Amino acid sequence: MNFIDDKLEEFCVKYSSDSIGIIGQEIKERTLKSSELPQMLSGEMENSFLGFLIRISNPKVLVEFGTFTGYATASMAMNSAVDAVVYTMDKEGKHNKANQSDWKKAGIQQKIQFFQADALVKMYELPKKWDFVFIDADKENYPQYLEFAITKLSENGIVAVDNALWSGKVLQSEKDGETQAIFDTIEMAKCNPNLYVTLLPIRDGILLVQKRSH
Ligand SMILES: C[S@@+](CC[C@H](N)C(=O)[O-])C[C@H]1O[C@@H](n2cnc3c(N)ncnc32)[C@H](O)[C@@H]1O
Repeated sequence: MNFIDDKLEEFCVKYSSDSIGIIGQEIKERTLKSSELPQMLSGEMENSFLGFLIRISNPKVLVEFGTFTGYATASMAMNSAVDAVVYTMDKEGKHNKANQSDWKKAGIQQKIQFFQADALVKMYELPKKWDFVFIDADKENYPQYLEFAITKLSENGIVAVDNALWSGKVLQSEKDGETQAIFDTIEMAKCNPNLYVTLLPIRDGILLVQKRSH
């Protein structure tokens, strides 16, 4: 869901830098053809914003929970330094062949390591400290993903959590399992005095978290 008028969103996209270039259009078209849930794609506005964050924070180790058709993965790779690496995990492998082909076409394949795995298991095996994390997999496990990501964050590392407003359902008093997990994730972040937290109504909501140095 978008929280702003479609025309205003189009205007924002038009006057924002394109985070991903021509390959973005191809990934979008492929997603519409090959996926039953094309709405899972994160899209231009969100990735332009995340691309900006990546450009100003210069992460070298980027981690994505939930690859899907590789749109945000491509954006993360394109907006990070040449020596950066993007680790991305998805329990499904059905989009991988097409993803690899798109990433190769865009010249970013060597920066991306894809793991077909349950992120809840694989996250423990990823190396090093993480500088930029994009959480966008199954909502029920968001609290575990954020909790673990915080332990892996480098000093100025950032975590971005997608769908943080979940079409506005976070406001409901009776919450289903996914909504409750997203709500718990937001609360956990806000209640942690060691984190600086911003919750933004971009697309379906983005929760941004950084470890406080002061
Ligand atoms: C919303 S989509 C990701 C969209 C993608 N990040 C983008 O920007 O276009 C969520 C993805 O998470 C994956 N997923 C769900 N549960 C998972 C799990 N436990 N481990 C890894 N991936 C999972 C799904 O297969 C799906 O492809």
